[in-house]
Amino acid sequence: MQTQDNVIEIRNLSKVYRDFWGRKKVQAVKSLSLDVKRGEVFGLLGPNGSGKTTTIKMLLGLLFPTSGEIKILGKKASDVEKNERIGYLPEESYLYRFLNADETMDFYGRLFNISAAERVQRADELIKMVGLDGARRRQLKEYSKGMTRRIGLAQALINNPDLVILDEPTSGLDPIGTREMKDLILKLKDEGKTVVFCSHQLADVQDVSDRIAVLFQGELKVLGEVDQLLELREETEIRTGNLSDEAIAEVRQVLEKHGMKDSLIQRPRADLEELFLKTVRESGERPGRRFTAEEMAATQPAAAEAATAESANDSADS
Ligand SMILES: Nc1ncnc2c1ncn2[C@@H]1O[C@H](COP(=O)(O)OP(=O)(O)OP(=O)(O)O)[C@@H](O)[C@H]1O
Ligand SMILES: [Mg+2]
Repeated sequence: MQTQDNVIEIRNLSKVYRDFWGRKKVQAVKSLSLDVKRGEVFGLLGPNGSGKTTTIKMLLGLLFPTSGEIKILGKKASDVEKNERIGYLPEESYLYRFLNADETMDFYGRLFNISAAERVQRADELIKMVGLDGARRRQLKEYSKGMTRRIGLAQALINNPDLVILDEPTSGLDPIGTREMKDLILKLKDEGKTVVFCSHQLADVQDVSDRIAVLFQGELKVLGEVDQLLELREETEIRTGNLSDEAIAEVRQVLEKHGMKDSLIQRPRADLEELFLKTVRESGERPGRRFTAEEMAATQPAAAEAATAESANDSADS
């Protein structure tokens, strides 16, 4: 049933958790059918307990479905061979607390039968990529939540997988780590890999996903392309450089001529993520300095984005 373009095909998948005596406790997933295409970033959303982790574990063959079928990388979910081409970041860390980052990477590299030279090289690349170079000799038990997430991700990529499955990759990460994780997901996509992830950080999911699915109590409620799902068909947005009051009044007149009363014309807001990242960057460059609201507003990337290239350069200097 697998077509060339689908990396994952799920059909009528259900999972019932039973208690010790085999009595039905929870139906965690109900008749779920969906496909994940090769090379896409697929976001799985849903409230706590909606079946995201259960679905992921069934994909990996860590849990056995009650009914239904899964094809993943052309194989059955129960076929362990497919796992050589999959990278997995679990919801909870399971790494050995007494190993350091280098030892952890080496351990998992050995599990995948990667040669010693390649293990060292990949470990080095990945540890640097997730920003743990300065902490690579410390035992994982000393790591903060975000650092643990980062080494988990590095470990998930040790086998250079075609399909990467991330269960809440940004949980516990600071905004810089979150941005890096998002950039990394996009980089994996650029390399032609397929990424499936679930997260409660809706803005993050929106930023990186091509398609999303929303689960509610184990049932698929929404499935589609992010751009299409979020498009506001009843509105038009125009962004331009900084307009004078006079120009705004004129624009308003034109809009009214076309029957558009009460149009919203205002300076757009950058998001808090931009402000935070900028503050951290500038603080590193200019220690001991405190920034005023005006300074921050004047150099916000969102404002610069809308302006021409020249004026963006001007504002970057200020
Ligand atoms: N091992 C288990 N035994 C019994 N019930 C379980 C087990 N694991 C999960 N469940 C139940 O299955 C349902 C789905 O859980 P799951 O962990 O898949 O949700 P989730 O969408 O990942 O939630 P979260 O956002 O909190 O991580 C929940 O009702 C949960 O209590
Ligand atoms: Mg979960």
